[in-house]
Amino acid sequence: MKNKIRNFIRKKKEKKIICLTSYSKSISQILDKYCDLVLVGDSLANVLYGMKTTHNLKLETMVNHAKAVRSGIKKSLVVVDMPKGSYKNPNQALKNAKHVLRETGCDAIKIENNSQNLNIIKTLVKSKINVMGHIGFTPQFKTKFRVEGKNKIQQNNLIREAKKIEKAGAFSIVLECISKMTAKKITKSIKIPTIGIGSSNLCDGQILVTDDLLGISGFYPKFVKKYVNLNKIVDNAVKKFSRDVKFKKFPQNKNSF
Ligand code: KIV
Repeated sequence: MKNKIRNFIRKKKEKKIICLTSYSKSISQILDKYCDLVLVGDSLANVLYGMKTTHNLKLETMVNHAKAVRSGIKKSLVVVDMPKGSYKNPNQALKNAKHVLRETGCDAIKIENNSQNLNIIKTLVKSKINVMGHIGFTPQFKTKFRVEGKNKIQQNNLIREAKKIEKAGAFSIVLECISKMTAKKITKSIKIPTIGIGSSNLCDGQILVTDDLLGISGFYPKFVKKYVNLNKIVDNAVKKFSRDVKFKKFPQNKNSF
């Protein structure tokens, strides 16, 4: 396990780090061929469950999806998002993180950072739990979207925060919707990899919500590149199925027993 994390950190100097989200076994099996890290993101609240925010997600929902994801992965690092409210203090965070990792067999957890939860990272790392940080736009704590790090004060705050997270023992940090110059400066200021989403190509690696790049989520902000319009493909397939049933073209004899 230690080696897996060490190898991941080493990639900062070697290559661009490829990360994507997954909530299921079938998608994980595909991602595992191409990714260094697969995140069981709490974005599943919005993407899969149609919730307006990630705020009401249950720990057990994350555990169930993390088990499914883990079962489809052979080589990538698997990180599980701790949902809002599951890491309010160091004791609760430790109990819940241990539960998640024990139940799922995943490699690490991710928490969204605010200025008050550095002691949580320290406590988890002391107990040998691998922690990924998350700064910039953090949907569990900020409901109003804005690009972070656009002025000097915000930039300095974010650099300071990233350094503290590194010092607390995190092995990597997600930078969400941070301006290009600030992402560049953070990435240069710390030795652990920065993984960007909406934070330019100057991070050590990139992550997207897989459903966004597949064009199935219906949510395509500026930082998303839609690689396929799966919505249209699925629509077409379902339309053909409904037509076949209506006109008695399906099932045929070859589909019957
Ligand atoms: O929940 C999620 O999918 C995430 C990514 C956006 C990084 O945290």
